[in-house]
Amino acid sequence: MTEQTRDKFFGESQLFEPPGSFQEKALVSDRRLYESAQKNRLAFWASMAEDVEWMKKWDTIFEDDDAPFYRWFNGGTLNVSFNCVDRHTLTSRRNKAALIFEGEPGDSVTLTYQQLYREVNRFSSGLKKIGVQKGDRVTIYMPMIPEAIIAMLSCTRIGAIHSVVFGGFSSDSLKDRIDDADSTIVITADGGYRRGKVVPLKENTDQAVAACPSVEKVIVVKRVGNAINMDEQRDLWYHEIIKEADDYCVPEEMQAEDPLFILYSSGTTGKPKGILHTTGGYLVGVHCTFKYVFDYRDEDIFWCTADIGWVTGHSYIVYGPLSNGATVILYEGTPDYPERDRFWEMIERYRVNVFYTAPTAIRAFMRWGEDWPARRDLSSLRLLGTVGEPINPEAWMWYHEYIGLGKCPIVDTWWQTETGMILITPLPGVTTTKPGSASQPFPGIEAAILDEAGEEVEPGKGGFLVLTSPWPAMLRTLYKDPERFKETYWQQYPGKYFTGDGAMKDKDGYFWIMGRVDDVMNISGHRIGTMEVESALVDHKAVVEAAVIGKVHDLKGQAISAFVTLKEGLDGSDELVEELKAHVVKKIGAIARPDDIFFASELPKTRSGKIMRRLLRDVAEGRALGDTTTLLDPGVLAGIMEKYKS
Ligand code: PRX
Repeated sequence: MTEQTRDKFFGESQLFEPPGSFQEKALVSDRRLYESAQKNRLAFWASMAEDVEWMKKWDTIFEDDDAPFYRWFNGGTLNVSFNCVDRHTLTSRRNKAALIFEGEPGDSVTLTYQQLYREVNRFSSGLKKIGVQKGDRVTIYMPMIPEAIIAMLSCTRIGAIHSVVFGGFSSDSLKDRIDDADSTIVITADGGYRRGKVVPLKENTDQAVAACPSVEKVIVVKRVGNAINMDEQRDLWYHEIIKEADDYCVPEEMQAEDPLFILYSSGTTGKPKGILHTTGGYLVGVHCTFKYVFDYRDEDIFWCTADIGWVTGHSYIVYGPLSNGATVILYEGTPDYPERDRFWEMIERYRVNVFYTAPTAIRAFMRWGEDWPARRDLSSLRLLGTVGEPINPEAWMWYHEYIGLGKCPIVDTWWQTETGMILITPLPGVTTTKPGSASQPFPGIEAAILDEAGEEVEPGKGGFLVLTSPWPAMLRTLYKDPERFKETYWQQYPGKYFTGDGAMKDKDGYFWIMGRVDDVMNISGHRIGTMEVESALVDHKAVVEAAVIGKVHDLKGQAISAFVTLKEGLDGSDELVEELKAHVVKKIGAIARPDDIFFASELPKTRSGKIMRRLLRDVAEGRALGDTTTLLDPGVLAGIMEKYKS
């Protein structure tokens, strides 16, 4: 959110109370949950954990003797796939739809809980037959199809640790992630559909795996039927594995603190971080937040538009909803294919009740115009959510009016890959919302805004968002890098979790998230490190040095601007700009394509050699330059500004 828009709304009495009709039926309509958590935080989390099915109950709720390597529900045992599938087959939910899948071309499949149970059991048994064991890492690189979820659940059934890699990442990115996790298995598809085209997932996988000695088998789902290479020694068809498999596979009894999955996310270095989540605390966290934040009802159809390659897909397409026995929509494609009303048309056709998407998507819908949703019947919607970046109040209002038809509460949910679960959010039957504010911590969550010295700042003043006590779904470490885990999150304020976000709290105790304070950009709700893009640029033979910044962008929130110094004797050209953009896409994926690339004979640096990104951001956003006194050579910047204008 820009300073201007925030100031415009901050402190103004733009308040939305939960509608009476919503509140009447809401799961929570008073502050009792907050009060019970306030009274005894750990007892509150234990009560949330009671909602999950344990094989053996925990010995302790929480242990902090090895901080910051905290343990939750230690001694307890459970199985996540049992909670997400088996459990519901024992109730009247067994014939309820678990997944309603729709492919981009319009094909669709519905799997009831009983059917999902069969698929998960068969694939779990198949994985075991090819030798996958508890603790093995399995990389999943797939389109948004049911087999992706079946694969995730099957890993959890047998205790394998999945690492889902977003299907939009390039083969180079996939390779880095497979390598870091030392995965023995990669599960992919021949391809997936995106805007009418086929994404060559198998081809990308082949390129990646060629350089990954740990990989023993590649399992391929036939999705599009395109011609692909199958390596006889290494590659197996998913449908062949299923054919040979058993109908039942015993769910592994997992310790609460056994690893559940790794999910790579960008940090401030060129190397993505392997964020590690464990079994018990994660499931408790996503189970209860799904239930209360989305006011879950058995008859609801829930649609989260995120990709399963991101944490939002893990927590609120798969584990949160399915552990509650919910019905979820799984959609493969983009919102503008074949037309810009694809989402609204699907909401009308399936009678979707709860819809969860990202501000960047809402801003795109705004740009496309309200005629698109207006021609569809959206009256089934009762609750809306957003996630991924600060929502500007204008987009909030548009969402409220044209999608929520003025009657749906909006939950603006703040959280991170690391937090596993939603942490700051309204409860829709309780919280009076303010457009642009994620409102207040979920019961049992404690957050504060601190200054550099670790003092809490006054209401209305900006500072660093910090979580002052641990929570069940928190990351436990960075895979194979406990030191980086300690440094990144726990060093700034000992004993407190540093989020990397700037925020402020208003006089009513509402949190306003202002965005990242580190070298991480938020491009269309996706986290990308400036260093990752810089490394991709300097990997090109023409480039000596690169500095990357995220500049404010109407649609994407932030867009990537790169400043590049070329090798002596080389000149920048439009062709080279395109070549460098393509190089970044090849190294990382299309989400990291820079919007602009500028050539500079030198980059502005401090006397100690640090690139002054802050000044480059001023240049890119057309602002007056901030403090330049520490600049080694002010002439360098003048040169860049001259070029930038032209
Ligand atoms: O800067 C915050 C922003 O997204 C970051 C986390 O990114 P990631 O781990 O990719 O997870 C995104 C989905 C959970 C945060 O540090 N962010 C996320 N949600 C919000 C947000 N910023 C403001 N408001 C939100 N609701």
